[in-house]
Parts: sequence; C-alpha cells; structure tokens
Amino acid sequence: MAIRKIVMYPAEVLEKKCRPVEKFDKKLIKLLDDMYDTMIEYDGVGLAAPQIGIDERIAIVDIDNELGTIEMINPHIIKTSGEQNGPEGCLSFPNLFGEVKRPNYVMIEAYNRKGKKYTLEAEEFLARAILHEIDHLDGILFTTKVSRYLEEDELKGVEIE
Ligand code: CO
Repeated sequence: MAIRKIVMYPAEVLEKKCRPVEKFDKKLIKLLDDMYDTMIEYDGVGLAAPQIGIDERIAIVDIDNELGTIEMINPHIIKTSGEQNGPEGCLSFPNLFGEVKRPNYVMIEAYNRKGKKYTLEAEEFLARAILHEIDHLDGILFTTKVSRYLEEDELKGVEIE
C-alpha cells in the first residue's frame, strides 16, 4: 500500500475519457489499495484513477457510512432521478469549492475488485459523490458544472471528492 501523488488541474489525464479495465489482476488490487490510502491521506470522500495519473475506469467513494469503501470498476449509470444542489470540492482543485446541481438519486452497475458485477442505488450526498467520480472517468470536471463558487465562510463541512 502506498500513497500516490495527486494530479492537479490542469493536466491532460484529467480531461480524458478513460479506458475500461480489462484485467482483474493483482495490479488492479494494488492500485485500488493505493487509491484508498491516497484518498484517506488527503481527506477525500472519493478518488478516481485519472487523479493519480491513470486513465482507466476505476474510482472509489467512501463517505464514512455503513457501506464502507465502494469500489467502482467500469461503472455505468443505469438511471438517475430528482435533483439536488450542493457544495463540492475536488482533490485535483485545491481550495476551490462550488455549488453543483446533480440528480438526487442514481442507480449504477459496476464491477468490484474480484470482477463481480453489482448494482448500487444511492441518494443525496452518496449519489453526488458517485456521480462526481464517474464524471472523472469521462474527463468531466466539477468546475464545468459549478453554478456558483463558494466563499471562505461557506466552506464548513464541505467534502472533497
Ligand atoms: Co474530483
């Protein structure tokens, strides 16, 4: 396990459509473990592979709830519904926070580290975090969706994805 260097904006890898994972091997497991260590080290609630310089469809989310760490490999959005407006930050954009409108509900399909397919439903903040990370895999950054940037006195409790 190791902490990897976070790629900061601007960097080409952050705006690239990532490639699907084809091999569920030891290298993938090591990468997922390193992504976890890196996310924890930098106090994030999520991390996508391009944020450590790897253009593959791998992301993790951990909002410190009963689900633990959600590992999403080759995730697909099955459906979304509703709407929520909330603050977001991103590990690749230090000290930049903005309000982003997202669906309030999402259903995804993804693979876990063992190559087993699963579906997951999420609402509210978890849905937001999942959608933020899946956007990363398509090279879409939260700054392209910000309706308003936040001032310093509005940052209390804002999570970094
Ligand atoms: Co991010």
